[in-house]
Amino acid sequence: MNSIPAQHSRVLSGMRPTGRLHLGHYHGVLENWAELQHEYECYFFVADWHALTTHYDDPGIIPDSVWDMVIDWLAAGINPGEAKLFIQSRVPEHAELHLLLSMITPLGWLERVPSYKDQQEKLKEKDLATYGFLGYPLLQSADILIYKAGMVPVGEDQVAHVELTREVARRFNHLYGREPGFEEKAAGAMKKMGKKAARLYGQYRKAYQEQGDQGALEAARALLESQQNINVGDRERLFGYLEGGGRIILPEPQPLLTKASRMPGLDGQKMSKSYGNTIALRDDPADIEKALRTMQTDPARVRRNDPGDPEKCPVWQWHQVYSGDDVKNWAREGCRSAGIGCIECKQPVIDAVLRELMPIQERAREYVEQPELVRNIVAEGCEAARDLARETLDEVRHVMSLVYR
Ligand code: TRP
Ligand code: SF4
Repeated sequence: MNSIPAQHSRVLSGMRPTGRLHLGHYHGVLENWAELQHEYECYFFVADWHALTTHYDDPGIIPDSVWDMVIDWLAAGINPGEAKLFIQSRVPEHAELHLLLSMITPLGWLERVPSYKDQQEKLKEKDLATYGFLGYPLLQSADILIYKAGMVPVGEDQVAHVELTREVARRFNHLYGREPGFEEKAAGAMKKMGKKAARLYGQYRKAYQEQGDQGALEAARALLESQQNINVGDRERLFGYLEGGGRIILPEPQPLLTKASRMPGLDGQKMSKSYGNTIALRDDPADIEKALRTMQTDPARVRRNDPGDPEKCPVWQWHQVYSGDDVKNWAREGCRSAGIGCIECKQPVIDAVLRELMPIQERAREYVEQPELVRNIVAEGCEAARDLARETLDEVRHVMSLVYR
């Protein structure tokens, strides 16, 4: 069934530590991560170096943000028994790979990444004409490639960074995957699979290369995954040989587009800290209730007797997220006929938001009370991440002729 090679089924994603998370993060990113963790080998990390590219003048806020974010992840249902959680700077191998990749990355590729100019425009008060900020997407490429991740769940704004990662990986493989005698080595590796598997592999390869048969490519990959008799090097050779080029050392990841969060903010715009319209996962329930109670409604509905139009009311958008059909019908009809008041209309939303947040807040409290537990979860995640990162870096140093005897 699963024709994706093991490394392609590894999921990696990161988040910059920007403080406590809100409902927009929950309904966008975190619910998605929580689902992925059941299906794939997942690595989720705090991108503290990425935060430093824009907050280098005020790094003091980073440590608290890191722990707050990890606690929010855990509280929202990211399970350390399933996913590994770690902190980028605790796996310094990311930095070495970033450096090595910088040797082969044309400046133009980085200058052309849309977020480079966009963010400089948006954050005008900061001087982002730095080397580190230009390298932001390449550091991200190193984050991804060091785990040979196949899938990278990201929002729309990050897709260009995954694209860059693919290009960098392709260039890397092109430059360093061409070992002398590649064809002969691939033929030798095929022999080791045994006659039957080798013949099958040959047929699939031909079907893919001559007819572009994607199914054959996937079948061949699955076949390679299932081979017991070949070592890692041979397997990579044969993966590379399938597609024509050399050995694939750093596989190209796919972006896994996170569907846009359904979560409106308190004013009906997208929920975002920069709009000041958020409800944080750990806000005090009384404050949440108050924020929702005083939330803007259809401006035309001045008096209780004025009929309203749900389409012009942010509360209606919250009903879309939190209410079933019966409540939605009740609200729509009640609004249009002035049969219900706005406070009445908001009550089921308030109840649903609090109901959703109660267990999250309860879990958060447990983690806050056990800082050692959180430290241990992260230490374990860092160790697991480092083991993988070291393996990749060994290979990378080797093909870049950085191994001395
Ligand atoms: N740049 C990402 C963001 O701002 C965070 C990030 C850093 C990331 N490294 C990553 C996301 C690697 C996915 C994979 O959201
Ligand atoms: Fe909005 Fe509900 Fe008031 Fe209508 S009744 S304006 S949908 S809060």
